[in-house]
Amino acid sequence: MNDSLRESEAGLRTDQVCVITGGGSGMGLATAQLMTGHHVVLVGRTERKLDKAAASLRAAGITVTVHACDIADKQSVQDLARHAASLGPVTAVVHAAGQSPHMGSAEQLIDANALGTLYVNDAFLDVLEPGGCVVDVSSMSAHMVPGIALPRWAYPVARTDVHAFRRRVLRWINLFPRPVREGLAYAISKDFVVWLARNDATRFGARGTRVLSVSPGSFDTPMGDVEGDEALALVAGAPIPRLGHVDEIAHLLAFCVSERAGYLTGTDILCDGGVLAAGISPLRRRTGPQAPSEPASQENVDRVLVG
Ligand SMILES: NC(=O)c1ccc[n+]([C@@H]2O[C@H](COP(=O)([O-])OP(=O)(O)OC[C@H]3O[C@@H](n4cnc5c(N)ncnc54)[C@H](OP(=O)(O)O)[C@@H]3O)[C@@H](O)[C@H]2O)c1
Repeated sequence: MNDSLRESEAGLRTDQVCVITGGGSGMGLATAQLMTGHHVVLVGRTERKLDKAAASLRAAGITVTVHACDIADKQSVQDLARHAASLGPVTAVVHAAGQSPHMGSAEQLIDANALGTLYVNDAFLDVLEPGGCVVDVSSMSAHMVPGIALPRWAYPVARTDVHAFRRRVLRWINLFPRPVREGLAYAISKDFVVWLARNDATRFGARGTRVLSVSPGSFDTPMGDVEGDEALALVAGAPIPRLGHVDEIAHLLAFCVSERAGYLTGTDILCDGGVLAAGISPLRRRTGPQAPSEPASQENVDRVLVG
């Protein structure tokens, strides 16, 4: 990575900078492949993965540098925004970094997915050029959990006190049976992403910029692989009964940050092959290795909420 950074610090400037978090794999990497005409800054925690992804992009003619950043760390995200702005006018941010219920504890999911998105939106609000756009990647999971199970009353607290937000949300999650906690934390974190993009539209608009979210269904990415049979079972009865191809979501994300989507802001776009339209039901994720064998079900959640 050092060579790439030296290259950029030595004055590699192009007209437009596009930052892609989670750019080392999956949706982020697939979107980077479409960003010709930009200087793409690929972002993630794992430098080796970023370097490998950058090499493949360079071979395809994309101008790219890499930047290691943990989006759950506010300072790290602020450094990223400063770095990106030093390369040229930042006109696009595809915020695809995230972790699934199989990848972390409830705490880690709230930190990376919810707070990470807050840090990204806040940091890039200040550096995004007029006409620019941030697209935050949410999930269809955000749309699957009944509103009564979502602590939306706690979301605005994140604006003023992230520790209080975190405490309240985790306390809420811990009211639920252990087997559903990671799945619920993921859904809450992604519902927060949708809420944030909608609520940030006005302050982005005041600067002539846009922000929105995209909620993917189940896609064939490394994260999709981790979800394995559960993802396949979810899509089996959908109008499009297969996993989404990664380039299908990449084209949507690239469109959202393009000038052609200039009237699109403060909204969420669901891209799930019709899973939700078919009424396919949620909260049946098995959680991590520590989970007891009791099946996670809507019934369990209802029992807690009602009684
Ligand atoms: N695939 C699906 O079926 C699906 C469905 C709905 C929503 N999504 C969402 O789509 C987005 C992209 O996922 P994907 O499917 O492309 O999975 P992926 O290939 O696992 O990509 C996620 C990327 O995020 C990076 N990342 C994770 N935590 C990070 C952190 N704290 N700081 C910086 N980077 C971090 C990972 O790299 P490092 O580990 O190296 O940091 C990884 O490259 C995620 O937000 C995910 O929640 C995916």
